[in-house]
Amino acid sequence: MYSSVVGGIILDPSMMVIPIDDHMVHRGHGVFDTATISDGYLYELDPHLDRLLASASKAKIHPPFPRETLRDVLIQTAAASRCKDGSIKYWLSSGPGDFHLTPKGCTGPTFYAVVIPAGAAATPGSHCQHIGGVRAITSTVPMKHPFFAGIKSVGYLANALAAMEAEARGAQASVWVDADGCVAEGPTMNVALVTAAEEGGGLPGGELLVPAFDRVLGGCTAKKVLALAPRLVEAGLVRGAREARVPADEARRCAEMMLLGSSLPVMPVVEWDGKPVGDGRVGKVALALSEMLRDEMKSGSDRIPVPYS
Ligand SMILES: Cc1ncc(COP(=O)(O)O)c(C=O)c1O
Repeated sequence: MYSSVVGGIILDPSMMVIPIDDHMVHRGHGVFDTATISDGYLYELDPHLDRLLASASKAKIHPPFPRETLRDVLIQTAAASRCKDGSIKYWLSSGPGDFHLTPKGCTGPTFYAVVIPAGAAATPGSHCQHIGGVRAITSTVPMKHPFFAGIKSVGYLANALAAMEAEARGAQASVWVDADGCVAEGPTMNVALVTAAEEGGGLPGGELLVPAFDRVLGGCTAKKVLALAPRLVEAGLVRGAREARVPADEARRCAEMMLLGSSLPVMPVVEWDGKPVGDGRVGKVALALSEMLRDEMKSGSDRIPVPYS
């Protein structure tokens, strides 16, 4: 763990603590992000760090160090952990001080990071576990207002309750539908849909749609998928890809549905609210994307070698 309170990297788990008077602990005034460690490389650290800083700015948290220092701390913490596969999670907080609602009495912002080896974190599930596709439900937990959904704050109560609701109803994933009846996101993943051809010669289908990022968290994986989409077009798997507002009624007629997030990165959805999605099997776009994203993680350009000593 790294803690700016201590001013260094901590290797003894019993010392990996956060002050209880940190505003992030008692008021939820903190933001976080996560980057994957794969095969000794940090994957997509920069986009995740950019999102952390964007979240911090919206939450009016001023980082204690410049971006380059935060980045260096994360790389050094990953190296000190010796972890080759897992993730690094990091937080910016308005810091310790008093227990008041505003951070006026805080001594200064804090930065924390912790490395979590693969298997130690309860991610929504492993790649192997979900390669056959999952059952999803529409969550009845009220979703966050778009302003808050766009900030990756430590306020994940709605997200936790939505994930617990899926577990309680025998599903593996939860999906929010917004107040206008459009598909939003899952509690830790974005959604992607492949449209089906309309009967009677209507729309041809084959479009990859990602619910627009103006109401949900701008996922690094979903953005990567949109960037990789031309390859799917070239391979004849889709006609095109774009961000869109997708009414849930239309989404229920789609050929494929999947959830996208750094931890997996693709979780195909084969059943939604008890009805099969498409033909009820994992589709070819989900399979192709899963492979493409895994290749990116293994040999793509957005990787930083961790300088283990
Ligand atoms: C609410 C929410 N939506 C979407 C995502 C997916 O984002 P990413 O692809 O950057 O992991 C996450 C994960 O951080 C999330 O917490």
